[in-house]
Amino acid sequence: MSVMVRGLKKIYGDHVAVVDLHLSVQPKEIYGLLGPDGAGKTTALRCLAGVMMPSAGQIKIAGQDVTQDPERGRLVVGYLPQQFSLYGDLTVEENLQFLAQVRGLTGAQSAARIDQMLQFVRLSEHRKKLAAELSGGMKQKLALCAALLHEPSVIILDEPTAGVDPFSRREFWELLLALRDEGAAVIVSTPYLEEAEKCSRVGFLLQGRLIREGAPAELRAAYQDEVVAVLTREAFRVQSVLSDLGRGAFVRGHSVRVLGRQGLAEQVRVRLQASNCHWEDVQVVSPALEDVLIANLQEGGGGFGGN
Ligand SMILES: Nc1ncnc2c1ncn2[C@@H]1O[C@H](COP(=O)(O)OP(=O)(O)O)[C@@H](O)[C@H]1O
Ligand SMILES: [Mg+2]
Repeated sequence: MSVMVRGLKKIYGDHVAVVDLHLSVQPKEIYGLLGPDGAGKTTALRCLAGVMMPSAGQIKIAGQDVTQDPERGRLVVGYLPQQFSLYGDLTVEENLQFLAQVRGLTGAQSAARIDQMLQFVRLSEHRKKLAAELSGGMKQKLALCAALLHEPSVIILDEPTAGVDPFSRREFWELLLALRDEGAAVIVSTPYLEEAEKCSRVGFLLQGRLIREGAPAELRAAYQDEVVAVLTREAFRVQSVLSDLGRGAFVRGHSVRVLGRQGLAEQVRVRLQASNCHWEDVQVVSPALEDVLIANLQEGGGGFGGN
């Protein structure tokens, strides 16, 4: 089922959390909603999931306006909230049985579906464990399981991998990719910019507004600034030496990335030569999506021709 959002707006008191949001997500797509804390990601996703009424705008799922009929929306949407609460003193299985009951699944239906979903997220052998004993990654897989019980065709996940270790994050993403391949429309927010590369399209939200949207490759191609990578074992020292150049310097493993206008590499070399830092190499590299998004964050949309 496709999701179509038109002019979504949400105001809390006198605070505008989301304004004029337009989105469209098709089956077999993963749409990544990115943006810093407070950008309005959770607010937008809550409205899409039908757990919060927008102040204005339309949300159509498979052509039906779910703001007029939230119950209908909740039937086809699986929602994994940012703060998902499990019953720590119930087992994995008991948590799911309870949620299946809340969802109105009958006994036989729910037992089969729970088995199938536990297998899908590879938690079958942990089904008798107390939820409180699960690792962070396992808890999130259980939460995903719970969101999928009623076989939704639209899946909305709010920072599902936040605070989860890198290995489990990769495993969780494999599950999202599998759901996409089966035909779901997936909408996911994430604070991890490297996860954006796995999305079909991403939207970048800043102060409630969608300031940039596109496929990762399109966004990289439209980016016109220079990205200079300094290879060094003293990344943090080099960063502080270069921090006031261009749009700033960012540490990425054993390299420091500096973003800015053409000709930046020369400035970087001059600056490094005048310092007593140790570095191996200075190169102009092609931008990663992470660079593009950092540039957007810095200037609310900078780095693209004409902006
Ligand atoms: N229930 C609420 N009441 C008032 N303000 C809220 C509420 N929820 C969120 N906000 C505010 O709305 C803005 C967007 O918040 P949120 O949607 O949680 O952003 P994000 O998920 O991107 O961090 C923030 O400024 C936040 O403080
Ligand atoms: Mg949030």
